[in-house]
Amino acid sequence: MRPALAHLSRRLRAPLVVLGGVAALAAAGGCDMDVKEGSGDLVNGKKLFVQKCGACHILQRANAKGVTGPNLDEAFQRSLKDGFKRDTIGSVTKDQILYPNLNGPMPAKLVTGKDASDVAAYVAYAAARPGKDEGALATAIGGGQKPLAKAQGGVLNIPADPNGQLLFTFRNAEASPGPLTINSENDSTVPHNIAIQGNGIDEVGPVIQGGRTSTIEVTVQAGKYPFLCTVPGHAEAGMKGTLTVK
Ligand code: HEC
Repeated sequence: MRPALAHLSRRLRAPLVVLGGVAALAAAGGCDMDVKEGSGDLVNGKKLFVQKCGACHILQRANAKGVTGPNLDEAFQRSLKDGFKRDTIGSVTKDQILYPNLNGPMPAKLVTGKDASDVAAYVAYAAARPGKDEGALATAIGGGQKPLAKAQGGVLNIPADPNGQLLFTFRNAEASPGPLTINSENDSTVPHNIAIQGNGIDEVGPVIQGGRTSTIEVTVQAGKYPFLCTVPGHAEAGMKGTLTVK
């Protein structure tokens, strides 16, 4: 990864020329009031960060574990050590949301207007900050995982986290031997699927999002089967578990 300082220098000195425009000037000049720490709606910012950004970035306080883009805790830890203020991180983040590298995988304007300011404010608040979020911020992204999904009548439901975290809503699953339909509903905007790969089975469901369901049909015998989401990086981040058949 390129050093964050280089990144900040590029963002803070170059944008006047490179980007032009009122938004870039406001962000670079640090006079964008919305992104100051403590202003902005951090709860909304955290929710949107998880939905729109977390599949590509690590940000520990948001439980975000994506690896396509830079680790934002690490990137901004350097910047903080180098003496940059948290509202500069907010400005840099908002600038990045509006004007990412055109040749890179990060889409521009995943969030806009006040939402973009809220996401930037949350990143400015959370990046490289030790400890855990508390209060309304702690509950902003839902309660995490339940331990065990149990099949009923040959159907097993293992939904993806509706808030966009890289998690299934159940850690593990249980079923009886025989034909089994496995459904994974995904109400988030982050693409996911369900698959069983291992113990003699290789079934990969379609990748879906936005309220649709990924389904596979398998026949299982007593034993243990690994289930996962096969979208790159998602199983590594935690979208995997064990189906025990007995
Ligand atoms: C599809 C993957 C993807 C998504 C989604 C994504 N990013 Fe990125 N992001 C990247 C990549 C790759 C880079 C590095 C190069 C670049 O500028 O494109 C990056 C760079 C960044 C940087 C600069 C960090 C540094 O050290 O240079 C910030 C800040 C950032 N993203 C924030 C966000 C925010 C906030 C969102 C959500 C609104 C978001 N990203 C969504 C992939 C993504």
